[in-house]
Amino acid sequence: MKEKIQKVFKEKFGDGGMTYTSPGRINLIGEHTDYNGGFVLPGAIDKAMYAVVKPNGTDKVRAFAADLNESSEFGLEEKDKPQEGFAKYIFGVAREMIKRGKSIPGFDIVISGDVPLGAGMSSSAALESAVGYALNDQYKLGFTRPELATIGQSTEHNYVGVKCGIMDQFASCMGKEGSLIRLDCRSLEHQYVPFDPKGYQLVLLNTCVTHELASSAYNKRRESCERVVEAIAKKHPEVKLLRDANLDQLKEVKDQVSAEDYMRAEFVIEEIQRLLDTCAALEKGDYATVGKKMYATHEGLSKKYEVSCPELDFLNDQAKVAGVTGSRVMGGGFGGCTINLVKDDLKDKFVKEASAAYEKKFGIKPKVYDVVIKDGARKL
Ligand code: GLA
Repeated sequence: MKEKIQKVFKEKFGDGGMTYTSPGRINLIGEHTDYNGGFVLPGAIDKAMYAVVKPNGTDKVRAFAADLNESSEFGLEEKDKPQEGFAKYIFGVAREMIKRGKSIPGFDIVISGDVPLGAGMSSSAALESAVGYALNDQYKLGFTRPELATIGQSTEHNYVGVKCGIMDQFASCMGKEGSLIRLDCRSLEHQYVPFDPKGYQLVLLNTCVTHELASSAYNKRRESCERVVEAIAKKHPEVKLLRDANLDQLKEVKDQVSAEDYMRAEFVIEEIQRLLDTCAALEKGDYATVGKKMYATHEGLSKKYEVSCPELDFLNDQAKVAGVTGSRVMGGGFGGCTINLVKDDLKDKFVKEASAAYEKKFGIKPKVYDVVIKDGARKL
């Protein structure tokens, strides 16, 4: 990948580009909790976005997306927002850095990567983090890794239109080989949790579908959570985010919020607790409990948060029937992957049978990825 993208850079812009990479992520449990100030348990993976970058001595950016064969040229003032989808990420990251008081001269950049798009593995966060890391290094801007994660998140909010939490960018910038990150999304305090489940493997099954309007549905989920917080805070002003609320406080506002908002908030409050229970089980090496929690998360994401889809529910059912220890939809939802915790000796059989059943039902062959947990953003 490195050689390929460097060659493209040379052809487009000449010698002297530096290469940077930042990975996609998995998340063991703790979904839609990040923007509610709760906990998540992600890890960076061995699929990443790459950026080759070189200052060009002008005030313009010349960008090329190798996988899309698309170019874009733009300035870095607010009015210069490019039309091309991929370029918005580069522009957004640079703008967020400028807003934080830095000067970003023009540069040439080629991007490429092997994080599957729309699969719930955070290709966009990987791109933001690769670009952020590259500019930070090239122009010696002095941002810390958590700051780069925040810059990526603000890029999503202000230039892409997704009101995402911090999980994806944090995992991409802060990932550590062999470890998951137990992240408190309110304080950004985090611990690395070594993850080497003896006798088990993590495998992703990609439905290869992405349902329309995922980003507007995502933003709507966030608004539901915010409305419930507002209702609870009338009596409990210390509740600033759903993280601060408990199920009793939620019950108190049952008549003041819509049934839908209630159900969404109930999922989030339960999910935050599920993550804490899962961390306790992991400490004891109790993978049976970890697996049960994963299934419970799927059930909640499907029935209460309503971010699953028939394809994901089907793969989840396949896992249950096959006796897989844990399985659930991963990431924002509306398509993408299930993450499965499966015993070594069951893995091949499960993957083969679930793939065949899925193909028979939906006419699509699911893609299969073994999870390898790697380091976060870096220069190559
Ligand atoms: C997407 C968002 C994250 C997070 C997950 C759901 O990946 O980018 O911030 O909210 O969905 O857990």
